[in-house]
Amino acid sequence: MTAELEEEPTGPENPLRDPQDRRLPRIAGPCSLVIFGVTGDLARKKLMPAVYDLANRGLLPPGFALVGFARRDYTNQDFAQIVHDSVKEHARTPFREEVWQQLAEGFRFVPGDLTDDAAFQRLRETVDELDVTRGTGGNHAFYLSIPPGLFPEVVRQLSEHGLTKENPGSWRRVVIEKPFGHDLQSARELNRVVEEVFPPQSVFRIDHYLGKETVQNMLALRFANSMFEPVWNSHYVDHVQITMAEDIGIGGRAGYYDGIGAARDVIQNHLLQLLALTAMEEPVSFDAWSLRQEKKKVLAAVKLPERLDLHTARGQYAAGWAGGTKVKGYLQEDGIPQDSGTETFAALRVDVDTRRWAGVPFYLRTGKRLGRRVTEVAVMFKRAPHLPFTKTETEELGQNALVMRIQPDEGITMRFGAKVPGTAMEIRDVNMDFAYGGSFTESSPEAYERLILDVLLGDPPLFPQHTEVELGWKILDPVINFWAAHGKPEQYASGGWGPDSAHEMLARDGRAWRRP
Ligand code: BG6
Repeated sequence: MTAELEEEPTGPENPLRDPQDRRLPRIAGPCSLVIFGVTGDLARKKLMPAVYDLANRGLLPPGFALVGFARRDYTNQDFAQIVHDSVKEHARTPFREEVWQQLAEGFRFVPGDLTDDAAFQRLRETVDELDVTRGTGGNHAFYLSIPPGLFPEVVRQLSEHGLTKENPGSWRRVVIEKPFGHDLQSARELNRVVEEVFPPQSVFRIDHYLGKETVQNMLALRFANSMFEPVWNSHYVDHVQITMAEDIGIGGRAGYYDGIGAARDVIQNHLLQLLALTAMEEPVSFDAWSLRQEKKKVLAAVKLPERLDLHTARGQYAAGWAGGTKVKGYLQEDGIPQDSGTETFAALRVDVDTRRWAGVPFYLRTGKRLGRRVTEVAVMFKRAPHLPFTKTETEELGQNALVMRIQPDEGITMRFGAKVPGTAMEIRDVNMDFAYGGSFTESSPEAYERLILDVLLGDPPLFPQHTEVELGWKILDPVINFWAAHGKPEQYASGGWGPDSAHEMLARDGRAWRRP
């Protein structure tokens, strides 16, 4: 085992603590959530609506407080109006005046710059005031929805203004949005800076894919059932395809996206987490420590192919059609330099060097402006060793597949061969589907709802730990460096399924991408 896998469990990560009954309604205790970057897109579209939805579901305490911090001259009333607009537009649950009124009483806005001492002093006074007027009990979570370059400064300011100090019986937590660094070295440095101020169990790194119901269901599918485990290995599995396709372009995110690209934006985090959940061994329990140990073992066992030129692909979307309208190419998007070499599509093959997965390639791909929005993990099985049918009878028989449909059409598909009705023996692939909508009446919380609630509860299993992040960079750094040294990404038509090189990459292995 490497040192990375041997960390001692501490506090709530201790696997020896009593197992929780996860069916009980989990309601946050007295606390506040402070959002830095509250005027940004993420706060408006996801964080503020999630807070309202949690309140509407009765999962926040009556005295809950939401504090916005940004470089705007807003009053508390202006802030309330902003939250109101975002809730009206993006919340999942119906608007209820009485819930809103109660929630809005706990809104505070702190104007100021992230480098401004006086602003952090005002923040300090605000949280002290909330402890008295709303009974938040010294429990405060600081959500950094800001560019990562600013994390060190905010963490320093929080520390210097006494905002990270926990009194007995109270807590302080920090929530960090990705990207966690730019490469292994910067991720290590970031982790060092953050963990110098906050103990590891108070740091919550958001990978919103782990907040998705369907991603958590991967654990249920694998470990609550008996029929999948016997075939979940190299004896039966031919390969695995993990796809995260988006039909949107980069929208107004040029400032964030250019220079980052598809591999850093989503493979380093979301796709590697999906890989880890697909390939990991059964954890001894679902507490954070046990779960992270198993995920880390997978990430530590990931091997890149020697020939990155043959087993990776990248592209950049060109003009084309999406959803019936003509769309611009990446280089024509506002704010993108004409000569940008940032990839908007990335694909790579990795192997997981363990007994279970020996010789089973995992193919990862993601891209913007592809044919449709879909995220799925497809486990592709080997063909039956012998077919007692003729070649023509099985012409339309493909590989058996188990597809975990993460979104948007959430569910699971099993694909297998069935006899085509008629007098002849002819076998064709069919799908057997489980769809959430058809099986459950319960509604799924949005990923950010689940994750914010877990932060307020101090429940860490759905948050990647720093070594997982670093292992992710260890895998990707050589690929990104290889690409940087080998010219520009290939152009691909918007609305299609990525560059030719991505298809050639699988064809070389005698395989083809699924068309989701
Ligand atoms: C984010 C990426 O992490 O995930 C975005 O930064 C991407 O580029 C988004 O669009 C996709 O999230 P979802 O939940 O819509 O699949």
